[in-house]
Amino acid sequence: MKIYVDSANIESIKRVMDLCPVAGVTTNPTILSREKRNPWESLYNIRRLIGDAIELHTQVVSQKTEDMVEEAQFIVKRLGKNTFIKVPVSFEGFKAIRKMKSLGLNVTATAVFTPMQALVASLCGATYLAPYVNRVDMISGDGVSLVQNIQSLLEKQGSKAEVLAASFKSVEQILRVALTGAKCITASPSLWLEVLRHPLTDHAIQGFTTDFEKLTAPGKTLATTVK
Ligand code: E4P
Repeated sequence: MKIYVDSANIESIKRVMDLCPVAGVTTNPTILSREKRNPWESLYNIRRLIGDAIELHTQVVSQKTEDMVEEAQFIVKRLGKNTFIKVPVSFEGFKAIRKMKSLGLNVTATAVFTPMQALVASLCGATYLAPYVNRVDMISGDGVSLVQNIQSLLEKQGSKAEVLAASFKSVEQILRVALTGAKCITASPSLWLEVLRHPLTDHAIQGFTTDFEKLTAPGKTLATTVK
């Protein structure tokens, strides 16, 4: 599975990158707005932090096909080739994905809420498809089943597009989506930290330290305990 960080906050992205391998950073206009600065400042900072080898997913704000394509070209020129243009799957969006694909741009279809939207977006040329798990759960739907159905439809149809599951609010949602076999998951930095953290791990470490210090002396490790 590939880990993506859904954020435009440099310190938070860095924190996750220090802890585990990150395949990419995903943003959207709302995420950029949280930083309360010029969006280009945030995007340039992210690219500088992650380098050219890590994917950066950046969403177009335009709503008309031609404007989306123009905006996408503008974005890639500034953020480099390893940038994936996030396109919401509106009617204009589907047309834009086809056009972008024909121009050789990398596309992530976003705001996906049905398996058929995902399949058609993949036929239009999207590399990644981003279903919104929590937003489906929030309206009494089943976000995990959505991901599962998209995956099985893509498999049955022989599509090479990958699911980049998005919109998570709990560790449980992430686990359940990972158990479906989803290969890419994007979540906020704080949620990734929650994934890694467990109070019993901290408690166990505390016990080991206390016992070792009882045996030796406070602050000692095997490296500083001379035989
Ligand atoms: C990421 O690609 C999506 O834009 C994001 O995960 C949506 O998450 P939200 O439902 O928390 O806004």
